[in-house]
Amino acid sequence: MTKKPVIISTDPGIDDVVAITIALFSGELDVKLIAATWGNVPLDKTLNNTLKLETFLKTNVPVVSGASRPLLRNLIDASDVHGKSGMDGYDFPEPDTSLLQSKLAAEAIHEVVANSQEKVTLVQIGPATDYALYFRQYPEDLSRIEQLVIMGGAIGRGNWGPYSEYNVAGDPEAAQIVFSSNVKILLAPLELGHQAFVTQTTMEKVKKLGRAGDMLYHLLSKLNDKTETNGREIYDALAVGMLLKPQMYEFKPAYVVVDTKSPNAYGASVIDFDKFFNKPANAQVGVQVDQVAFAEWLIDAIRKVK
Ligand code: RIB
Ligand code: CA
Repeated sequence: MTKKPVIISTDPGIDDVVAITIALFSGELDVKLIAATWGNVPLDKTLNNTLKLETFLKTNVPVVSGASRPLLRNLIDASDVHGKSGMDGYDFPEPDTSLLQSKLAAEAIHEVVANSQEKVTLVQIGPATDYALYFRQYPEDLSRIEQLVIMGGAIGRGNWGPYSEYNVAGDPEAAQIVFSSNVKILLAPLELGHQAFVTQTTMEKVKKLGRAGDMLYHLLSKLNDKTETNGREIYDALAVGMLLKPQMYEFKPAYVVVDTKSPNAYGASVIDFDKFFNKPANAQVGVQVDQVAFAEWLIDAIRKVK
């Protein structure tokens, strides 16, 4: 089976680390580029974290530095959840900076897409800033994108505002550019994280999965997510799971639009399943995930890390 070419835009971020680690060792994805963007913590830290993670994993996927701030709104920060470094809880090796490409993220993404024999899948597990800039700068590439898998948005209540989830609220204008791009979109909203929680029993199993499992256990133990209900909610791995085991999910078509105007719901992802706006669906939204299957998949995926 040929591996699916993939680009990851990420803001590590503890749950990003889980997603990136699984993607790099899945055996089914050919990760061509990792674009670190501002997000959970400032860009200098997300970039350093990306390089430190690859150095720890002994992988050599090219890394590029993305946007240092949202398109229009002020910068936001989630260091209270992920720690000051963005990857608190584990002592990583010094980063191998030879993986770092000295070009803009949009240009690096374009080079991968333009030179790929197959259409490329984009994964977005942080704010949409870099993909929005890329779509605007290289509109001719859109037909060469297989699909865009996004962790973001909320069907109901948010984690950054009453109705807004962190990745979408972090750059609402960029998110709206992405949702209106006509690219095929799979969306993993916050509610899936509430369903696909990881119990302490699963965490203990993760701890026994070699050096990667030990690293992930220590990071996840440090995650300070106040919105959790039944256990560790590791959102970003949901997006990678949609690529590797879509049968774990139930999807529903929806028209997704981002509120970029109202003072109180700015950054809210308005997800219309019922044609209230009389617009065609622009995303397949994950509405259910099998929690047991997800936990088993997570264990199997981490076990693959050499
Ligand atoms: O709301 C959850 C999302 O925001 C995740 O991607 C997490 O890493 C943060 O970026
Ligand atoms: Ca993230």
